[in-house]
Parts: sequence; C-alpha cells; structure tokens
Amino acid sequence: MSTLVVVGAQWGDEGKGKVVDAVAAEADVVARFAGGNNAGHTLVVDGRTLVTHLIPSGCMYPGTRCVLGAGMVIDPDVLLHEIETLRALGLLVHDELRVSLHAHVIFPFHRQLDALREERATQSGAQIGTTKRGIGPAYEAKAARRGIRVADLLHPERLRERLEQNLAAVAPECERLGARIEGGVQQWLAQADAWARWLAPMTCDAGALCHAAIVAGQRVLFEGAQGALLDVDHGTYPYVTSSSTIAGGVCTGIGIGPTAIDEVWGISKAYATRVGAGPFPTKLVDATGNRLRELGAEFGATTGRPRDCGWLDLPALRHAARLSGMTGLCITKLDVLAALGKVEICVAYEDGIDPGCDGLAHAVPRLQSCPGWDDPDVVPRLRLARTLEALPAVARAYLDTIAAAIEVPIALVSVGASREQTIAVRRPFDPA
Ligand code: GDP
Ligand code: IMO
Ligand code: MG
Repeated sequence: MSTLVVVGAQWGDEGKGKVVDAVAAEADVVARFAGGNNAGHTLVVDGRTLVTHLIPSGCMYPGTRCVLGAGMVIDPDVLLHEIETLRALGLLVHDELRVSLHAHVIFPFHRQLDALREERATQSGAQIGTTKRGIGPAYEAKAARRGIRVADLLHPERLRERLEQNLAAVAPECERLGARIEGGVQQWLAQADAWARWLAPMTCDAGALCHAAIVAGQRVLFEGAQGALLDVDHGTYPYVTSSSTIAGGVCTGIGIGPTAIDEVWGISKAYATRVGAGPFPTKLVDATGNRLRELGAEFGATTGRPRDCGWLDLPALRHAARLSGMTGLCITKLDVLAALGKVEICVAYEDGIDPGCDGLAHAVPRLQSCPGWDDPDVVPRLRLARTLEALPAVARAYLDTIAAAIEVPIALVSVGASREQTIAVRRPFDPA
C-alpha cells in the first residue's frame, strides 16, 4: 500500500498536524489538497512547537517532499513567511516544496471582503465566524471562473485582465458594505510580480507529481485541513468552510483517481470542539466545558479564538466515517479527557434524528456517562502509555466503545501533544 489520506472527522483542530507529523516519517511525499491558511496545524517536536498554515506537516523530515495541491487557496505572503520560518530552522532547505500551478491565489481584496462581510453579518447575528483569511471569497471567484491561479502569476497580461474582472466584481460589494476596495490593479500586479519571482521555481502539476510517486512505489500521505462537518457539501451548511474537506477532496484537490487511494484515517479528539458559529449538539456551556477548554488549551491555532467544547458525538463521528470511507480511526487528546476526571459520551440523538442533511442542527444528544475516570492513576499511566495494553482499562474500554460504534478500527491514539506521545496501533502504509 502506498497512499494514505488523513482527514479531520469533526469540526477541525482534531490534531491533524500532530498525527501527520507522527506518521510522515514513513512517507516520501506529503500533500495538502484543500483549504488555505484558515488551517492551523500544530507540531510539537523535541519540545519545540511549530504551527503550519499552508505547508504540509511532513515538513519536519528532511527529504520528504511537501506539495500544495490544486484544491488549495494560497496566500503567497503567508506561504513565504512559513518557508522562511522553516528555513531558519534548517528545514525545507533543498528542493522539497512544490506548489500546484492550478492552486488559487488569495489577494488582499479577498481578505478585505471576507472581513467586511463578517463584520456586517455580526451586526445582525448572522455571522459564520470565518477566519477572515479570504478563503470564501477566493473559492467563490474560482467557482465563478474569475479566480486567479498560481499559473496566472506567471503571465502578466492574462493576470491584468483577470484582476480587472475581479475589481469590477468586488469593488461594488465593498462599497455596499461601506468601504473602498484597498489597492488597485497596478498595485496587485506589482505584488504578483514579486510573488512570481520566488514561486515560479516551485510550481508543478501536483497530480502528475503524486501519480509518478505512486507509480514509482513511493509512499504518499495526503493531509486534510478542517474537518468533515465543515465540508462545503456535507457539513453543517452554511456554517462550513468553502472547500471539500472529506477524503473525496483528495481526488479533485490533487488530481488523482479514487482507485489510487489505499487507506483513509480519520482523526477525532476524545471529546469535541468547534470554533465559529453553527450546530454543535454536544456543546457544554457550563463549568465542565470551560474546564475542557482550559485543560485542552482549546484556543484556535490560527485566530486564537476560544473553541467551544463538548462530549464526543458518536452519531456525528459515524457520519464522518461514512463520508470519508474511513479505514482507521485516530483518537487524540485522550490525556485531556482523562484529566477532566469525568466523562460522558453521546451515543445517539433523541427521536432517532440522523446526522446527515440538516440533522445536526436539530439533534438533542442522548448522553451516557462512563464511570471510572476519576481514579488518580488514570492520567499518569495514560500519558506514559505507548501501547494499547499499557493504557488504563477505563481508557481501553472507551476506545473500544468508539471503535465499535463507528465500526472502524483504531489506528493511532495520541496521549499528549508531542510526537512521541503516540500509540501507533497500526503502521501507516502497511496492508490492513
Ligand atoms: P489540527 O488543526 O487538526 O492540526 O489541530 P490544531 O493544531 O489546530 O489543534 C490541536 C491542538 O491539540 C494543538 O495544540 C496540538 O498541539 C494539541 N494536541 C494534539 N494532540 C494532542 C494530544 O493527544 N494531547 C494533548 N494534550 N494535546 C494534543
Ligand atoms: P484546521 O485545518 C477549525 C471554520 C471557521 C468558520 C468556518 C468558515 O486547523 O482544522 P473560513 O475561514 O474557512 O471561511 O471559515 O470554518 N474553520 C476552522 N475551524 N479548524 C480549521 O482548520 C478551520 N478552518 C476553518 O472557524 O467556522
Ligand atoms: Mg487547527
């Protein structure tokens, strides 16, 4: 087996950075297929914390190629800053980063529009709670066939036309929202020219690159961003991001066929979090929720916003497993749940509501309490465990409950933020 997809199975921030870093040692290529710098993926290696927003979490391994796929939207200023940060750490110093010519580019006017819309919507309580990074407006331009791709940066005449088209589309909306569009075509062209100078040597056909790697028997890891319930088609619409976050997004976002995907691992925290507006059936708006936020340091890696916290939602997780065809389940932050000393889990919704379609918006969770977590030995034993057998019985039983409900076997368990605090149940890229 040579390809593995790792995707979020909740509302994002499940620990994709941690898991991808933990399994990327075995990969030759790590490729992101969707989203942009709305993502914030945290890696903790040798006591050092690194948050990546665009560059795949395989970046800590010298020689591993990191690819940004066509399904992404890229803010070149953010990408350059990330490249410089990694180079200062002695990483990505060779020919390791490749960017799809078909990825779309975020310009300052995308960010401005995102922020203006959110501010206006907040006044009427209708905000999505976006990251204000210009993600929605950039994907919107793509669907409207006036998007600007990385390839366009290399063709100034084509780019000028496209920018004029965008100015005509965006300026009136900015004015309606009470602001003048910042900058203008000349300024954006100059900016694009500066970006093109350093980006051009990194450009590629990401689909062809991944395909060639697969054909050569190399191991390709596809890193998701956000999570299943933020998927533009299958998430809690309209409280979603603007891209395909589920495993199917790999095919369109990279440019490979579904038959090239061998395995899909979905990641879930041992509890649930969400940042931004929208349905969250198991949200705790009490002291327990606050305690989970504190213990889990649940503040956005991109925006610093506090994340809402709640119990693990099995119907929603089962839904996510179906959407991505998961073959393995990764459970993170089990140490945080253990530190709470009290655990409940949502086993179903009242009235048999189905999480698909708009079910989550109306779901009332049926909670079951899980006894035995208040034993003071649980946390220290759990944090030191490196095999399932070494976990306290109460934690093993919790994992068994999840795997049985989702009907997907556990592939990995994370008991702390750093790379080594990982229980590798299955080796990535091994046959199931
Ligand atoms: P991502 O967007 O899915 O990559 O997740 P984020 O990086 O946004 O958020 C996950 C947070 O949890 C980060 O601060 C990680 O360092 C941290 N984390 C990941 N796994 C664990 C774990 O098992 N235990 C603890 N305590 N923290 C973890
Ligand atoms: P990672 O990859 C958590 C949420 C935002 C908002 C909605 C739309 O770190 O898991 P957008 O800026 O994409 O238009 O915002 O999606 N959101 C995320 N929440 N983790 C993320 O990424 C997210 N990316 C977007 O909070 O509710
Ligand atoms: Mg994150």
